Amino acid sequence: MKTSYKLYFSFLFVLLTFSLSSAQTGEIFRLDGGNSTYAFGVNERGDLQPLYWGGRLGAHDSIPPAHSFPEMASFDSPATTTPQEYAGWGAGLFTEPALKVSFADGNRDLVLHFFKIASSSSNSAEIVLKDISREIYVTLAYSMDSESGILARSASIENREKQPVLIEQAAFAQWTLPPAHYTLSYLTGRWAGEWTLNQEPIQGGARVLESRRGSTGHQANPWFAISREGGRDTATAADEEHGEVWFGALAWSGSWRMTVEHTQLDALRVTGGFNPFDFGYKLKPGEHLDTPIFYAGYSAHGLGGASRLLHHFELAHILPQAPDPKPRPVIYNSWEATEFKVDEAGQMALAEKAASIGVDRFVMDDGWFGKRNTDHAGLGDWYVNPEKFPHGLKPLIDKVHSLGMDFGLWIEPEMVNPDSDLYRKHPDWVLNFSGRPRSESRNQVVLSLARPDVRDYIEGFLDKLLTDNDIAFLKWDYNRNWSEPGWEQVPADEQKRVYVEFVRNLYSILANLRKKHPKVEIESCSGGGGRVDLGILHYTDEVWPSDNTDPFDRILMQDGFTYAYTPQIMMAWVTDSPHWLNGRSTSLAYRMLSSMQGSLGIGANLNHWGDEDFATAKRLIAAYHSVQKTIVQGDLYRLMNPRDNSELSVTETVSNDKGQAVVFAFVNATNKGRGFPLLQLRGLDPTAEYKLSWIEGKSWPDTPDTASGAWWMNHGIQLMLKGDYQAAAFRLDRQR
Ligand code: GLA
Repeated sequence: MKTSYKLYFSFLFVLLTFSLSSAQTGEIFRLDGGNSTYAFGVNERGDLQPLYWGGRLGAHDSIPPAHSFPEMASFDSPATTTPQEYAGWGAGLFTEPALKVSFADGNRDLVLHFFKIASSSSNSAEIVLKDISREIYVTLAYSMDSESGILARSASIENREKQPVLIEQAAFAQWTLPPAHYTLSYLTGRWAGEWTLNQEPIQGGARVLESRRGSTGHQANPWFAISREGGRDTATAADEEHGEVWFGALAWSGSWRMTVEHTQLDALRVTGGFNPFDFGYKLKPGEHLDTPIFYAGYSAHGLGGASRLLHHFELAHILPQAPDPKPRPVIYNSWEATEFKVDEAGQMALAEKAASIGVDRFVMDDGWFGKRNTDHAGLGDWYVNPEKFPHGLKPLIDKVHSLGMDFGLWIEPEMVNPDSDLYRKHPDWVLNFSGRPRSESRNQVVLSLARPDVRDYIEGFLDKLLTDNDIAFLKWDYNRNWSEPGWEQVPADEQKRVYVEFVRNLYSILANLRKKHPKVEIESCSGGGGRVDLGILHYTDEVWPSDNTDPFDRILMQDGFTYAYTPQIMMAWVTDSPHWLNGRSTSLAYRMLSSMQGSLGIGANLNHWGDEDFATAKRLIAAYHSVQKTIVQGDLYRLMNPRDNSELSVTETVSNDKGQAVVFAFVNATNKGRGFPLLQLRGLDPTAEYKLSWIEGKSWPDTPDTASGAWWMNHGIQLMLKGDYQAAAFRLDRQR
């Protein structure tokens, strides 16, 4: 038993001796899945109290029952010292509540106690809590994935009072970790600079990660990982491949908040759900609010192990094509080549060139509809621009098909330019407060998707677009955040429901379109990676991680991205050099290899390419196709991470049957003549023989063609790789 657990349990023992007289043996709920166990129970006060979350316990191990913690001096009562599975704000709770309500009579005290078990099995449970006197019921749902041990938790809050109740704060779940020293990892960013992995020790107080923007946002992503630190109470600190890590992510694409709280009694709690800022959800008698899911899991193999569990879970359970999503087609996208200057002849010419290098899907980006010649006009008018496409989209789509590719199209359904027919006809259809300015960003305002008529309009035009045209793919964009989020068609005390209803309507449109047009695949884009979360990923097959396509920046962003999300959904285009954002010049091979770490696309202006470029791209796309499944669905090992201004970066992915490994290595600068360090691979079968083949680059002379997994992992391979912005890639294939 780890020292900290000993401390924890001896603390409990002390408590027991104090409170044994009043203690009753409470219910204990235990969920097992993968390599983890999660347990909670009912204490003598009736609270639902977390008991254990960590490595899997023995099947016959008993878990000590729940006992409420004592008062800590006169300032912290058991209501605040005792961790709860879902704490109502009341009775002197000073830590983050899961649920805060106001009753119609002004009472704001909510104390949730165990009421009944609605259902329970070895990997799922539904537990009903109820306020100690009022008719507020909360059903907590738990479902643990038997393979990964990732637990899905959510809550349904029901008002059976005779008066309405206002929900002011509602978490999807709260998590409690054993007392220890921890490091928090989280992702932040901005437009063209998403996916920065931040790591910091968790100290007293609360760290708040959030979006108040109406959507997920670039500035932070609703994912966390908490690694156990070394130090006085544990022997092993967690790192990339070792040690204990707890991680989680919200399945919600609206305003969200996660609070990581180290209480003054050194307990660690994570509370996540709807952002309570400007939040209000009125429940009339008989109504309920079902929260989205907060997923969380545990790994004993460091952050690398945690991300591998998440990747497999996303592929098997989250994505629309789960449990077996097809690797993404290699796409061509017109945006960086033509921006708004799209027309039939120009797109056909690009399509021919794209097909010649082995692209599978041709995507026409912004500019094809309405009077869309710049970002000042046209959004909302989803008819084909007759000057650019006099015969509609059909000739272009037919041409794309004749070249052996399928066809995709850019849309931005939730937005409108004031300079559009739609806005002139329905100026009231946008988020706004009467008589107040309607702040524009990128010359556009946000349609009020919470309104049923707006929702139906959007679903209607998209359904027609997909019915009238043979479209295999939509790039669904969303290029600004909210301002003036008024919804004046409903009573004043219901208007803040906009934060929930907008996103629910978005999900329902996506779900209906997918049902009606099952072959259509969808990408979630929001000016790059502004809407990437486990909620939208239930309806979309891939995401656009960033408008920044600089291959060097992307290596770092891809590193951050993959802590939370599978490379399968990580679209990565090869674009032009020097890059428009940084002015950085890189070779085509370097750009290709950077993008081949995820789902490959080409976004360069092919009209500017020479024969050699076409040959390089064709060769590398063919190489990519042959190993794509391993790259995007295998086990990812970060052998050298590019963070902290590292000069090096290496990733390895190993196919699920360990039959193949693919390695990408990058050097951004060689200084003082240093050679590339020895690479010791991971995750291979030590006894199998693997054959080495180069995709790009080479190793030192005398590297064997074939050697055992043990050789590649222990002896390792020495690459010949130096210079600025150089890259190499190779594969290992198991020999029969
Ligand atoms: C956003 C997207 C880009 C492109 C443009 C088109 O910025 O992220 O990829 O589609 O919109 O206007």
